[in-house]
Amino acid sequence: MTIAKVRTPLTDPEKVFHYTDLQRTKPTRENDPYDYMPGWGNRHQSEVIPGTLPAGQNNPQANRYGLYTEGITYSAFAAPRQVNKSTYMYRARPSAAHGGYNKIESRAHLENCFLSCNPSVQTFPGLAEWRPFPLPPADEPTDFVDGLHTLAGSGDPNLRQGLALYVYMLNASMPGRAFCNIDGDFLFCPQTGILDFQTEMGKLLVQPGEIVVIPRGVRFSVNLANGQKAARGYITEVWGAMWELPDLGPLGGHGLANPRDFLHPVAYIDEDLHRPFEIVNKSNGKYVAIKQDHSPYDVVAWQGNVVPYKYDLTKFSSQNATSVDHTDPSVNTVLTAKSHDPHTPLADFIWFGPRWDVASNTFRPPYFHRNSASEFLACLYGKGLGRDEGFLPGGASFDGGHTPHGGFGDEYINEMQLQVNEPRKILENQMTIMVESSRTLLFTDYARHGCGTLEKAADPKAWDKLPDRFSSHPGIKQLLQRVRDDKAAAAERLAFYHEGGIAGPPLPAA
Ligand SMILES: [Fe+2]
Repeated sequence: MTIAKVRTPLTDPEKVFHYTDLQRTKPTRENDPYDYMPGWGNRHQSEVIPGTLPAGQNNPQANRYGLYTEGITYSAFAAPRQVNKSTYMYRARPSAAHGGYNKIESRAHLENCFLSCNPSVQTFPGLAEWRPFPLPPADEPTDFVDGLHTLAGSGDPNLRQGLALYVYMLNASMPGRAFCNIDGDFLFCPQTGILDFQTEMGKLLVQPGEIVVIPRGVRFSVNLANGQKAARGYITEVWGAMWELPDLGPLGGHGLANPRDFLHPVAYIDEDLHRPFEIVNKSNGKYVAIKQDHSPYDVVAWQGNVVPYKYDLTKFSSQNATSVDHTDPSVNTVLTAKSHDPHTPLADFIWFGPRWDVASNTFRPPYFHRNSASEFLACLYGKGLGRDEGFLPGGASFDGGHTPHGGFGDEYINEMQLQVNEPRKILENQMTIMVESSRTLLFTDYARHGCGTLEKAADPKAWDKLPDRFSSHPGIKQLLQRVRDDKAAAAERLAFYHEGGIAGPPLPAA
C-alpha cells in the first residue's frame, strides 16, 4: 500500500531549498559517519563502554577500569541553573598529567586586543570587501594552529567582553596536536572543505552549510575529512557570552533553528592512547603549548552540558512577511550571544539561505539603510547575497555601523521598477551568513594588508545608478512653491490668535 507520494530525493545539499529535499530519515547528511545526540541545552551523557558512568554520584572513590574523574566548568560554580554549565569526564589519564608549558612559533595571525589603545587595529571608515582569502600553497603544510587568522573584533578576552572574527585556511590535519581556546567559544562556519572534528566528547563531521560550536576550554583537533585537500572557513568567537537560541516571541514555540536539530557527539577514544601530544592553548590571544606523552582523547565516559554541537543551516525554518513590507534580518538569526546591554546582542549569527519571497506591494530586498549594527557577510557557496557581483564564496564584505548602504547590482535597482507581486523562490543554490554586532569592529593588520585580498572600498560610482528623480519630477518646483505659499498663508492666519499677549486678540466687544 502506498502511504506517501514518492518523490525523487535531491542528493547535493548545496542545491536543496531545505534539508527535507534530501528526504533523509537520519538527522545528518549521507556522508556523515558519526552518531549524535539531538537537543538544545540538555545535560547529555555518553559512554564508550556501557556502565562506565558512575551511577548516582559524580566522584566515586574508584571508577570502573581505574579511570580518573575530571571536571570542567564553564560557568561560575553558583551561576543560575539555566546558565550553569559543567561536564564530568572519566578518562584514562587526567589532563594534569603533562610535561609542562612551552611557547611555540606559529604562522597564525592572532590578535585579541580590540581596544582603541591598540594602534595595530583600526576601523574601516566605510565599506570593505575581500576576494577569497588565500589558501596555503600545497607545498606548505598548514594545520589549524598555523592557519588561523584574526580579521576583526571588539573588546578583549581578558575583560570577558567582546568578540573576534577569524578566517582559517588549512591544508593539513593535526595528528598529535589538539587546540584549546581558553578565551571564548568558537563558532566555526566551513566554506570549503569537509572537516572531521575530534573533541574530548567525541567526533563531528562538519561541511560547508553546517556550523559547529566548540565551548571555551574543550580540547579539539581540526582534521581534513577523507579525500579533502584544503579547507577554508569563518569563525566567530565570543568572550564573556555564549551562543544561545534567540527567543521566538510571538512566533511561538517553533521555527528558525529548532532545538532538536542541534547535534552533540557521542563518546569516542583514540585506539592508541600512548602517543605524544601537543595541546595548543589560545590564552588571551597568545599560543602556549602543553607537551604530554598521551592522547587527550581518552574520555571513556562523560556527562554534562559543556559539549560541542553542530547544526545544519539547510534545516533553518525561515519565517518572513506574508503580507507586506521587508522583515528585519533578525528574523534570520540562528544563534545569538548576549552583551552586557540587556537590549542589544553582542553578536547575531544570521542565515541567508533559500526561501520563498511573497510580500505584496512591497520593495522586497533590503531597503537602503544606516543600521546601528555592523554587518560582516560571507558567502559559503553559490552566488551569494553580496552587494557586488564580485562577491565570491570564501571572501567577505563589511558594512560598519551607520555606514549608508544598500544593494549595488542592477537587479536591485530594477526591482523598484519590476513591482513583483508573485510568490517566488529567492537565494537558491547558495548560502550566505552574516555576523551582525552592536560593537564597532576594529580590523587587524592581516585583514587590512596581510591577507592581500582586500578590495579597495566599494566604488562610489556605483551610486551613480541612483539619480535624484525627485528634483526632475514634472511640476515639482511648482508643487514646492505651493507648499511654501500654503505654509505662509497658514502662518498668517494663525498669527491673529497670538496677538494681544495674555489679554488675547483684539476682538470687538459683545
Ligand atoms: Fe545592511
